[in-house]
Amino acid sequence: MTVQRTLSILKPDATERNLTGAINAMFEKNGFRIVAQKRLRLTKEQAEGFYAVHKERPFYGELVSYMMSGPVVVQVLEKENAVQANRDLMGATNPANADEGTIRKTFAESIERNSVHGSDSLENAATEIKFFFTDAEIVG
Ligand code: CMP
Repeated sequence: MTVQRTLSILKPDATERNLTGAINAMFEKNGFRIVAQKRLRLTKEQAEGFYAVHKERPFYGELVSYMMSGPVVVQVLEKENAVQANRDLMGATNPANADEGTIRKTFAESIERNSVHGSDSLENAATEIKFFFTDAEIVG
């Protein structure tokens, strides 16, 4: 297995409830290194651009406004097999279907307010990391 990087976002429901540290503790306890991190308010252009793949989905408009509704924390996580490992740790998109011990089972409130985003493939991870970070901002 090879060390990979994946893009993670702590969503507005997580920052609103002051869960940045609690979620980061779960990442670190599970062997992820947080090699880049910043807190920001997404602009409409950023939220629309980031989720452009979902443009045709009925929930796109709400998703974009939700992601702009409060601060987010964008992060690069590093670990062996990081993309799949983070998807396993996050749990199912809908917290109602998430396994015990996952971030979404522990913290998420609904399919929209589901606390975290994580890249779904290595290829998308590279694109999503570039969306938010320059190489110089990632310190392994
Ligand atoms: P995320 O991993 O950030 O990728 C797209 C997001 O759309 C997803 O998490 C959900 O929070 C959000 N979303 C809202 N409604 C739905 C839905 N009905 N099906 C899938 N995703 C949804």
